Amino acid sequence: MTRIMCSVIATLFIFPLFLQSQDLIMNVYNRETTSLDGYWKYIIDPYENGYYNYRYQAFDKQTNPSKNAFFKNAKQSEPSELLEYNFDLCDSIQVPGDWNSQKEALLYYEGTVWYKKSFDYQLAEGKRLFVYFGAANYKAEIYFNGHKLGTHIGGFTPFNYEITELVNEGENFIVVKVDNKRQKDGIPTLNTDWWNYGGLTRSVKLVETPETFIQDYFIQLNPDDSNAITASISLNGAMITDQSIELKIPELNLSTILKTDSTGNASFEFQSNKIKYWFPQKPKLYDLTISTGADNISDQIGFRTIKTAGADILLNGEPIFLKGISIHEENPIRGGRAYSQQDAKQLLDWAQELGCNFVRLAHYPHNEHMVRLADKMGILVWEENPVYWTISWDNADTYDNAQNQLSELIARDKNRASVIIWSMANETPTSKSRNIFLNKLAQHARSLDQTRLLSAALEQKNYNDNPFVRTIDDPFAEVVDVLSFNEYIGWYDGLPDKCEKISWHIEQNKPVLISEFGGGAKQGLHGRKEERWTEEFQEELYIQSLEMLSQVEQLRGMSPWILVDFRSPRRPLPVIQDGWNRKGLLSDDGKKKKAFFILQEYYSEK
Ligand code: GCU
Repeated sequence: MTRIMCSVIATLFIFPLFLQSQDLIMNVYNRETTSLDGYWKYIIDPYENGYYNYRYQAFDKQTNPSKNAFFKNAKQSEPSELLEYNFDLCDSIQVPGDWNSQKEALLYYEGTVWYKKSFDYQLAEGKRLFVYFGAANYKAEIYFNGHKLGTHIGGFTPFNYEITELVNEGENFIVVKVDNKRQKDGIPTLNTDWWNYGGLTRSVKLVETPETFIQDYFIQLNPDDSNAITASISLNGAMITDQSIELKIPELNLSTILKTDSTGNASFEFQSNKIKYWFPQKPKLYDLTISTGADNISDQIGFRTIKTAGADILLNGEPIFLKGISIHEENPIRGGRAYSQQDAKQLLDWAQELGCNFVRLAHYPHNEHMVRLADKMGILVWEENPVYWTISWDNADTYDNAQNQLSELIARDKNRASVIIWSMANETPTSKSRNIFLNKLAQHARSLDQTRLLSAALEQKNYNDNPFVRTIDDPFAEVVDVLSFNEYIGWYDGLPDKCEKISWHIEQNKPVLISEFGGGAKQGLHGRKEERWTEEFQEELYIQSLEMLSQVEQLRGMSPWILVDFRSPRRPLPVIQDGWNRKGLLSDDGKKKKAFFILQEYYSEK
C-alpha cells in the first residue's frame, strides 16, 4: 500500500476519534501538566467570517478548506496571495479570563472570538497527549494544527481531547472558536440575571499520560456503612484488562492491589474503624495515591456521609443547619469571571467571615479551585446545573445539553467531600414537559452518584388561596431530597413589614432550605429604613426575613441572595445599579453593608 494511501486511511480512521470530546480525565488538577495559560492571539469575528467561506459553507465541513479558514492559522506564502487575516499581527488576550472584562470594546460583546496559541512540544516515546479546557463559554470549536478536534457546548464544565497523533515535534498551534451568543434552546436560555461573560474563562492545559493511564475514579465513604470506603477506578489505553492498580491511603494503613476486569474497571471496598470523618469544623482530607504501570497520581479526599431523615439533614449521622450564602463566579474587584485560587480564597474567606458553613454556587458550576478550597476550609457546597428560568423543555437537544453539562460537573467533582447537593434547576415554571425534563435529570444524577442529595429552587403559591400563607407548588418536590425555594417577600412582594404577616405551610416531610431571599442596597447610601436602596432598608429586610423564616418548622438551611454585588445587564438604574445587581451583602469593591452584620449575628447564634 502506498505511503499516500496509508496516510489517507490513517487520517480517516484517526479523524472520527476527535469528533467527540472524550471522557474527562479525572484529577487533571493534580496531574503533571503543561500550562497553555497566558497571552493568546485573538480575532473578533461577529460575522463568523473565519468559519464560513464566501459561499456560506462552513470551512470545517469541507475536506480541503482554504487557507482563509481561521483555524488554518495560514500565512501569506507569496505576494500575490489573498489572505485577509494573520494571527501573528493580532492583539493578545489573557487566558484564563473572560473577554468582556479584559477589553472595554468587548464588555457587552456576544458573538465569536477566535483564539490562537502556538507552542513547542516534544512528546516522549510511548506517551499520549491531551488538551484540557477548564471551561469555555458558551460554544467552543477546538482545532489543533488545523484539524478539528470537536465542539463543546456549555460554558461552565471541563472537557478534553486527545492530540497524540496530531502533535508535531517542535511548533504546534491551537485555534479555538468561542461563541458566547445566548441560545433560546441553550442551557441556560436567552434570559439570565448575570453577565454573559464569554471566552476561555478557565485554564487550558496539556496533559501527557502513559499509553495506559487512570482515566477516572470515584472514592467515597459507603453511604450505607460509614466504616467502609468504596473505590471504583477505570483505565484508558490499549492494555486495560487484567491490569494491576495500586491504591494507597497511608494514614489508614491501606495499600492494596486491584485487578481490572475485561472493561478496564476495578472496584474495591475496605473496612476501617479508624476513619476520621470530614466535618466543617474539622475538614479531614486523606492523601491517597493510585498507580498502574507508568501512571501514578495523588489526590486529597475527605470521607463523610450526607443524608436526610424526615426534615433533618444529617452529616455523618448528625443533624446540621446549613448556614449559607449564594455566590456568583465573579471577582467584582478585578472584574469578570473568577478563575483563580486567589479569587476562590477571596470569595470563600468572605463567606467564612459571615459565619457560613455552606455556600450555594449559583447558577452554574464554578471553577474547580472553589470546590477544592471548600474541601480544605470545611465549607459545604451546593453546585448547580444552569437549567435556569424558561428553558426549551420540549427540545430533545436541550435536554441532552443539560444532561451532558450535569454529567461533566459530576464527573469533575464527585470526589469532593464538600459537595453535598447537586441542584437540578433554578426557578423553572412548572409544566408537564418541564417536570419530565427535571425528573429525567434527577434520575440521571442519581445514576451517576448515589452519595449526595438533590435539590432545586422550586415553585410556590398561596396555600388555600390565602395570600398570607405560602406553600410549595411543584411536583418536583416529590423527587428532590431537599426542598429549596427563592422567596422575595419584602423586596419584590411588598415591603419588609409584610414578612411578619406571612407564614409557611410545607406539606412534605423533608428538609427546607431557603435558596434565596434578600434585597438591594447601594453600599454607602444611608437613610430611613423605608427608603429603597438604602443600607437601612436592606438591613430591615434581613431582620424581618430571618424572623419570618425561623418560623418554618422544617427550616434546615439558607443561602441568602447574595454575597457580593454582581454584574447584570438587567439592572440599569443609574446611580444605584449601573449594570450591577445590588443584592450583595458586600459591594463590588468589597465593602460590607449593614445587612452583612445582621446575617453574621444570626449565624453566630445558630
Ligand atoms: C432570582 C434568581 C436570581 C436573580 C434574583 C434577583 O431569584 O434566581 O438569579 O439574580 O432573583 O432578582 O436578584
